[in-house]
Amino acid sequence: MTTLDMEQKFQERIDAEERIEPKDWMPEKYRQTLIRQISQHAHSEIVGMLPEGNWITRAPNLRRKTALLAKVQDEAGHGLYLYAAAETLGISRDEMISQLHSGEAKYSNIFNYPTLTWADMGTIGWLVDGAAIMNQVPLCRCSYGPYARAMVRVCKEESFHQRQGFELLLTLSKGTKEQREMLQESVNRFWWPSMMMFGPSDTDSPHTAQSMKWKIKRFTNDELRQKFVDVCAEQAKTLNITLPDPDLKWNEERGHYDFGAIDWDEFWRVVKGDGPCNRERLGARVRAHEEGAWVREAATAFAAKEAQRRQVAELREAV
Ligand code: 3HC
Repeated sequence: MTTLDMEQKFQERIDAEERIEPKDWMPEKYRQTLIRQISQHAHSEIVGMLPEGNWITRAPNLRRKTALLAKVQDEAGHGLYLYAAAETLGISRDEMISQLHSGEAKYSNIFNYPTLTWADMGTIGWLVDGAAIMNQVPLCRCSYGPYARAMVRVCKEESFHQRQGFELLLTLSKGTKEQREMLQESVNRFWWPSMMMFGPSDTDSPHTAQSMKWKIKRFTNDELRQKFVDVCAEQAKTLNITLPDPDLKWNEERGHYDFGAIDWDEFWRVVKGDGPCNRERLGARVRAHEEGAWVREAATAFAAKEAQRRQVAELREAV
């Protein structure tokens, strides 16, 4: 069978909604696309812990602190889950980590913005996790088995993240004038970067068409962005806030909200490393990795000792 025949057969499996598993034959490009997307997704989860971790010690009460702690711990778990899914494609954890630390790999633009007020904890839950859910629910039907299965668990926890964020903002929206102003100011800062989370427009996305064909993606970037806007525009009314887009208005004919132009220069500037917090975020990750080297060494030494102990026990048994 030629490679062309195998690719043809592979596409027939995808079209028949079959799940691709690690041991199945797959086009090298399919493998590379998944390694790229899943590892960057994992990096986003791990780096995403930093903006929120910044507020754990400053939460206004124990209930808010425990919810935020639980959320940040969940993000760590999502990252490890996704690194494990990526490893099934033949890339090592060390390789992925060094791609992140060298700047070769990307992580979501949104985590390069500072979290300046407590309201940002709610806005991240509402908008960032809201956008993540919009994007991750279809990934539960991704053609690659390990990624789809990881997403099922991640999405369950993501909905708690979004819910606790929205509830935090709802509390602020019923609070003092200062609290309502803090809420509006936070949404003003995070609205547009959240819209950018879905990636470049479909016409500028180099990967979307192929990822749709391989059913890695079930919706395009613009389709998910539109769903996000339609949901948030309605939820903003409950929070009694104004989304910072003068062009946002319901279009009866389209059955969707129209919205203003996204500043793609800002998007690419941040993605390419020149956002408000890029250096700080990457620096924090590199430092944590270096300071955690002793834990990895201890775990490796323990595993080697355990393997040796088991070997001796097996030899004793055998004689
Ligand atoms: N931030 C940084 N880079 C982005 C980006 C973003 N928001 N959106 C797109 N890019 C990059 C892509 O990685 C790609 O660069 P690369 O070729 O070097 O990887 C380039 O821009 C072109 O974008 P495409 O849309 O063509 O690329 P994709 O087909 O990969 O689509 C994506 C981008 C929609 C983000 C897709 O990768 C995806 O769905 N990833 C899985 C979900 C994910 O990673 N979400 C990130 C947030 S996780 C999160 O929010 C956790 C929550 O718990 C807080």
